[in-house]
Amino acid sequence: MTQEELFKNLISHTKEYGFIFPSSEIYDGLSAVYDYGQMGSELKNNIKRYWWDSMVKLNQNIVGIDSCIFMHPKIWKASGHVDAFNDPLIDNKDSKKRYRADVLLEDYIAKIEAKIDKEVAKGRKKFADNFDEAQFRATNPNVLREQKKVDEVREKMAKALNDNDLAALKQLIVDCEIVDPISGTRNWTDVRQFNLMFSTQLGNISDETGTLYLRPETAQGIFVNFLNVQKSGRMKIPFGIAQIGKAFRNEIVARQFIFRMREFEQMEMQFFVRPGEELEWFSHWKQKRLAWHLAMGLGEGRYRYHDHEKLAHYANAATDIEYNFPFGFKELEGIHSRTDFDLSRHQEFSGRKIQYFDPEQNISYVPYVVETSIGVDRTVLAVLSSAYCLEKLENGEERAVMKFHPALAPVKIAVLPLVKKEELISSAQKILDELKLDFNCQYEEKDTIGKRYRRQDAIGTPYCVTVDFETISDNKVTLRHRDTMEQERVSIAELHAIVEAKVSMKRLLEKI
Ligand code: GAP
Repeated sequence: MTQEELFKNLISHTKEYGFIFPSSEIYDGLSAVYDYGQMGSELKNNIKRYWWDSMVKLNQNIVGIDSCIFMHPKIWKASGHVDAFNDPLIDNKDSKKRYRADVLLEDYIAKIEAKIDKEVAKGRKKFADNFDEAQFRATNPNVLREQKKVDEVREKMAKALNDNDLAALKQLIVDCEIVDPISGTRNWTDVRQFNLMFSTQLGNISDETGTLYLRPETAQGIFVNFLNVQKSGRMKIPFGIAQIGKAFRNEIVARQFIFRMREFEQMEMQFFVRPGEELEWFSHWKQKRLAWHLAMGLGEGRYRYHDHEKLAHYANAATDIEYNFPFGFKELEGIHSRTDFDLSRHQEFSGRKIQYFDPEQNISYVPYVVETSIGVDRTVLAVLSSAYCLEKLENGEERAVMKFHPALAPVKIAVLPLVKKEELISSAQKILDELKLDFNCQYEEKDTIGKRYRRQDAIGTPYCVTVDFETISDNKVTLRHRDTMEQERVSIAELHAIVEAKVSMKRLLEKI
């Protein structure tokens, strides 16, 4: 099965088993917006809890807040989002569809690269064991011609984007003879910058001064509360403020499921440090954040750092943690050393002094900031795509199983009476009543035990407990393990401790 087919299967699996639904589906959906179902919201909450505890519980100098989505519109002027949070867009006059100019060019490049790959595959077939791919790519005239095209387009596109030269970007689209995939025409408008923030209007103000934005990141809610938290919490630098919350971006390119959405959630932490110490803290958080990801067990080889060579004017170091999604390595988290840019801008725009008095150095300064910013939904997608397995069983059947880390699994334990008989049901209910105080449990009595096991595998439940007739006399149950499908007989009294040992959030936190 190709990665693409596997990804399609995963998407339908997540719908079938209540993880993720297209939003407003009965009205044919709303593009780039998704709802979390009964399993998805449990999984998402567990991921958020893991992040929150790793920040706020494990670090005495990090506290969490919950600021509002609506904020004073000047905040977005100060942060630079009103003037510079843009995508270059182009419309096709015939289809009336809007595209990101850089994405049209990226797609054009991808098509040429696919041609090159085809040529390489032909070479591999022809030369079999004697095939040397590097040599083939360096000498084959067809490959060289196509590669030259790719390099030229890339170079021109990078220059046009860097220089904010929208006319050059349009010219490149024209020169590459790119057609609209819907109308098939080259009837393009000029390229324009389009702000990604959604706006709305305050009820009691009719003009532009009443414009409010839906926050495109949670970070600004932290910056504008810096003084409140520092003073009320008597925080001493270095310290951090963490927040989890919704963010909104009017993304034009909506694809790859929950990877790029218009409404999504972020988990951000701003770490305030002494000027001059920020690069040390940047390295610290770079390493800590990767350790957080690795503890979930999705696979070491699935992550890589992508250090930014070209930095935003306010940053002096930046890296992305990329994850190998089913569609390749893409950004999952950003770690940025943002200097004193944000606090200084808020100081300037608000007219309030935003400084910290450092008692050890006996001076006041605007702290520097190291930011860690991760998308909740992208983490959910990473966890889902690594957990999803299709296994061939000995009896020839196939089982779909979500191999979540037990601490993240939506349901921890399923309690199943072997058959629908009163004495088994009441014994199972008693076990459930005890376990449900600590764990998210499911109780199921319908269908054969085999079918019930399959359903629990499909939602990733690490343990199933089966109550049978012997249970009544020996107070023991059959405990089935999801990944190995092994079964063991354990006493009811031991159950809680066995489950707790595996599903506790401690199992993740102790690895960081
Ligand atoms: N405060 C910094 C900031 O917002 P960003 O790289 O724009 O930086 C941080 O976003 C993270 O938010 C990304 O690494 C990604 O995981 C997530 N994210 C950004 N845009 C997203 C979108 N449209 N849909 C889902 N997640 C998104």
